[in-house]
Amino acid sequence: MNQTYVTLNDGNKIPQFGMGVFMVEGDAATKEACLEAFKLGYRHIDTAHAYQNERGVGAAVKESGIPRSEIWITTKLWPSEYGEGKTAAAIEKMLARLDTDYIDLLLLHQQFGDYLGAWKDMEKAVKAGKVRSIGISNFESERLEELCEAASIKPSVLQVECHPYYQQNALKARLAPYGTVIESWYPIGHGDKALINEPVFTALGGKYGKSNVQIILRWHIQEGNIIFPKSTNPQHINDNFDIFDFELTDEEMDAIRRLDNGMRFFNMSLADQEKNLGQFVPAD
Ligand SMILES: NC(=O)c1ccc[n+]([C@@H]2O[C@H](COP(=O)([O-])OP(=O)(O)OC[C@H]3O[C@@H](n4cnc5c(N)ncnc54)[C@H](OP(=O)(O)O)[C@@H]3O)[C@@H](O)[C@H]2O)c1
Repeated sequence: MNQTYVTLNDGNKIPQFGMGVFMVEGDAATKEACLEAFKLGYRHIDTAHAYQNERGVGAAVKESGIPRSEIWITTKLWPSEYGEGKTAAAIEKMLARLDTDYIDLLLLHQQFGDYLGAWKDMEKAVKAGKVRSIGISNFESERLEELCEAASIKPSVLQVECHPYYQQNALKARLAPYGTVIESWYPIGHGDKALINEPVFTALGGKYGKSNVQIILRWHIQEGNIIFPKSTNPQHINDNFDIFDFELTDEEMDAIRRLDNGMRFFNMSLADQEKNLGQFVPAD
């Protein structure tokens, strides 16, 4: 299988495909899922402090025996960790939890709090060699341009909800001046049956001998999105990576593009998201 890579605006090459560990409960289950993925050739894991399983990711990297330089680890800072000085300290704790000398990609998880102060510390961490690339997640309001304009190092990625029902073309146009690329969360709609069972995926699956999910994931790859579907099911972990031996035609890509109907699966207002932040402060 030939994994594809995306060259970020800072020159680093990220594996375009990986595995997410959102809602994988606890370090033991996370370690097990990551080890299964590494065995199959995955080299990219997407975690976050808020997922409370960074230690499981770090343990899997160590136990895999794969050189650290061959694995891409993304993690995310929670707003309670934002602020000059405060973010630098949070990064040190992250490195300890992940049991690593550096983080490949560090993101601001949410667009609240002192994100400009946090970004300054993240830029310093890049200069100090503690972090290779920095980016943002869920910045879809005007705070996106505010941060991009203030930044000395422009965000390499923006991680947002993105799938065939919500393709984020307007956001991609806003990111173009900064060279920032999209990472898709909910790449298969968080497992939504209606999305997965769309007839166009069934027809293409029949043509290529692939499942509907594999067609969706292949569409993301050819669209240029970076993806990391989550799974703890070994069969799914295997199937999701088996998408590099066929190619959708331009007409087939267009047929999938026509599914874009503006439907998001995560619909909480910004005000409610901000209100909820206070109820959740990830433990060390
Ligand atoms: N930055 C953010 O705010 C944010 C928000 C959400 C997600 N994310 C990131 O994006 C990653 C992916 O998002 P997600 O996990 O929420 O959604 P997702 O990857 O779109 O969907 C995951 C769901 O699909 C199922 N699934 C996986 N492969 C399948 C297959 N081949 N056939 C059928 N079902 C399959 C999984 O169940 P099984 O485990 O049973 O396979 C799980 O229920 C997360 O893990 C996280 O890293 C980031």
